[in-house]
Amino acid sequence: MAKKKSDSKPAKATKATKGEKTARNVKPAVTAHADGAPGINIGMSSGDRRKTSDGLAHFLSDAFTLYLKTHNFHWNVTGPMFNALHTMFETQYTEQWHALDEIAERIRALGFNAPGSYAEFTRLSSIAEEPGLADTADWREMVRQLVVGNEAVCRTARKVLKTADDAGDDPTVDLMTQRLNIHEKTAWMLRSLLQ
Ligand SMILES: [Fe+2]
Repeated sequence: MAKKKSDSKPAKATKATKGEKTARNVKPAVTAHADGAPGINIGMSSGDRRKTSDGLAHFLSDAFTLYLKTHNFHWNVTGPMFNALHTMFETQYTEQWHALDEIAERIRALGFNAPGSYAEFTRLSSIAEEPGLADTADWREMVRQLVVGNEAVCRTARKVLKTADDAGDDPTVDLMTQRLNIHEKTAWMLRSLLQ
């Protein structure tokens, strides 16, 4: 059966609404791959996607470093506060571990690779890695480091939130708002132990 002439014609463009027009005017930053995957055109410029992703990469590195430090202290805490802190740190690192995945996958949705090596995390993080604990490590020093670490994560989240807000990147704004809520609350709970 002969193919209808109209089948091969591209659909006639209908008048774009204001929103559609804006989205079409955004130039796709990633060209189609050889396998035919289309470029990314989610209504954000490639520059905005790049800026937000860079911020998220820093946030992921901070969050991973804090996660590892919290897990480390879960393992190595000693003293009269052992039970309370061992359990508290476990609750915190478990929640943080699940959040890491959300952050990394947001970077992927924006079209960039998520950092995933110790070298990258060390380079991008604003939190100093725990170099190794002395046998005499005090639980107060662990809690103090976690307060400072959670606050550092909050500061980075605020920067990313601002960048994402300026770019109209609501999913990232939402994600950073959720993470701020958690890390500010965690910093308060930890700080309370030292007061
Ligand atoms: Fe454990």
